[in-house]
Amino acid sequence: MNLYPNIAIDGPAGAGKSTVAKLVAKKLGYIYIDTGAMYRALTLQALRDGVDMHDPEALGRLAGVTPVSLRNGEDDRLRVFLNNEDVSEEIRGPEVSGNVSYVAMVPAVRRRMVELQKAMAEKGGVVMEGRDIGTVVLPDAPVKIFLTATTPVRAKRRRDELAVKGSIFSQEQMEEEIIRRDGIDSTREADPLTKAPDAEVIDSTFFTAEQVADMIIARVQPAG
Ligand code: CDP
Ligand code: CDP
Repeated sequence: MNLYPNIAIDGPAGAGKSTVAKLVAKKLGYIYIDTGAMYRALTLQALRDGVDMHDPEALGRLAGVTPVSLRNGEDDRLRVFLNNEDVSEEIRGPEVSGNVSYVAMVPAVRRRMVELQKAMAEKGGVVMEGRDIGTVVLPDAPVKIFLTATTPVRAKRRRDELAVKGSIFSQEQMEEEIIRRDGIDSTREADPLTKAPDAEVIDSTFFTAEQVADMIIARVQPAG
């Protein structure tokens, strides 16, 4: 058994997974892993290469040859790389957000990403967040959280976040976008977004990220 248990956090877009996972990792001295960033980086590569987003074979081939990696940046913030290029900012753009669910539904893409993610968590002490962490990537994680919030609140949070970066969306546009993406993520055949039977649901609608992080930390019992 790992001395430091892994923590799996799943949930729909804008539920607060990344913010909360980062806080939990910082407070516990764990490693934070954003699996969505890996699917986003691959999507960026597909867009650059002009790969058809509805061609699963081409996307699967691309996953096999694209070096996607996560590294700690100078400010200790997680950075995402394609080869040696830091694409952490570019992957948050609307074009990647609009296409990532098509890339992430391809079984060969998922197999490759899951393999990389499992290897990152082998030694324990990671807080990993995504859509299939409790169900597929870390089914044995002793702490599994399914984080939710109402759709209007999730859309508002994402809107506010993008507004700070200068991208303005209406509440309606943002709700449509996250409902559409959650719909594809939850109904795909390969590793859909779903709560693991042994995951605990936390509804973050009325809680700050700090409060949610503390609720999760209260559930962590170091082994040994
Ligand atoms: O931050 P946000 O919730 O908007 O999304 P993300 O975590 O960056 O994930 C982007 C997309 O990657 C999701 O909408 C899924 O299509 C895909 N994804 C996945 O399929 N499996 C994961 N473990 C993580 C993300
Ligand atoms: O990773 P995910 O898409 O689930 O959500 P996120 O990117 O962590 O959170 C989206 C936005 O909501 C961020 O700007 C967070 O600061 C904010 N947030 C919040 O206001 N209250 C929370 N309890 C969690 C996140």
